[in-house]
Amino acid sequence: IHRWRYMACRYDIHMYDAPFIAVYESLIPAEEELEKQKQLMARLEHLVGKEWPHAKLYLYGSCANSFGFPKSDIDVCLAIEDDDINKSEMLLKLADILESDNLQNVQALTRARVPIVKLMDPVTGISCDICINNVLAVVNTKLLRDYARIDGRLRQLAFIVKHWAKSRRVNETYQGTLSSYAYVLMCIHFLQQRRPPILPCLQKMEPTYLVRVDNIRCAYFDNVETLGRSSNKETIAELVWGFFSYWAYGHDYANTVVSVRTGSILGKREKNWTRRVGNDRHLICIEDPFETSHDLGRVVDKFSIRVLREEFERAAEVMHEDPNPSAKLFEPY
Ligand code: CTP
Ligand code: MG
Repeated sequence: IHRWRYMACRYDIHMYDAPFIAVYESLIPAEEELEKQKQLMARLEHLVGKEWPHAKLYLYGSCANSFGFPKSDIDVCLAIEDDDINKSEMLLKLADILESDNLQNVQALTRARVPIVKLMDPVTGISCDICINNVLAVVNTKLLRDYARIDGRLRQLAFIVKHWAKSRRVNETYQGTLSSYAYVLMCIHFLQQRRPPILPCLQKMEPTYLVRVDNIRCAYFDNVETLGRSSNKETIAELVWGFFSYWAYGHDYANTVVSVRTGSILGKREKNWTRRVGNDRHLICIEDPFETSHDLGRVVDKFSIRVLREEFERAAEVMHEDPNPSAKLFEPY
């Protein structure tokens, strides 16, 4: 298991910082895109406010967690405190309102796992999904964004890992591989585990932010600008190398769970994730920071776990041996 600890890199790893930084910089969305998102949000807030004056709109997902790529769709949550709303009726009503305001491709998907209305705004060209009362997603979006504010290396690492996962087609939950959300949690956990740590564990610190959502207490330290810088000076190429080495050779898939909530590795036993229950096989375990009974690896099955582990191994080998890893790593599958 600890083979990776002893494997040295054949090349001076720091040679690769500049190419990885260049990849990262090419993936950052432009300011204008953020402006357009704001413009569309203002329009939606106005339309929703006329019908439901007490409703609030929140952005969540990659457009708000600081891990978004250019030209991403935006995810919006309509939050309304009303116990007897009928989500389907509300979505159909919302679809009507949007359509009458000339938004395009409006579609209410009331039977989806997460029911939504889809739309495209012809003014900005942005596509958008609106769901109702998915407040946990809004809160976990804020947690990811707050972690990203602590140390710039998280955003660099997560962009590179997401770009790798998309290029190698292991970011497709309907095919049994992992969501972008899961990859970002894996990156946060990895940086919490470095010695000395690059990220703290915000949920173990004195909470400065506290909300209760669907009976789950979400509490953590969000005053992150007051935190000092980590004394760890590792650079992006070292971290990419370490991340893939860990998931290729270091992680104990049979017995452990990675947990951002505790900043540590937990045993599958203590979570009762040792055997298959229904469709949850727990072949790679990533604990959701708030919905702690939720394993983000639950989409992974006995076929896709092999694909995933082979891709981690390929990536680790590229990082260990290839003379030009930043090109080879992202080679399309
Ligand atoms: N989410 C969640 N639980 C999951 C998957 C997603 O709560 N099992 C929420 C998270 O708030 C996440 C958002 O849905 O930020 C969007 O998830 P995802 O599409 O995986 O991530 P994005 O950041 O939008 O990535 P991409 O750029 O690939 O769209
Ligand atoms: Mg998304």
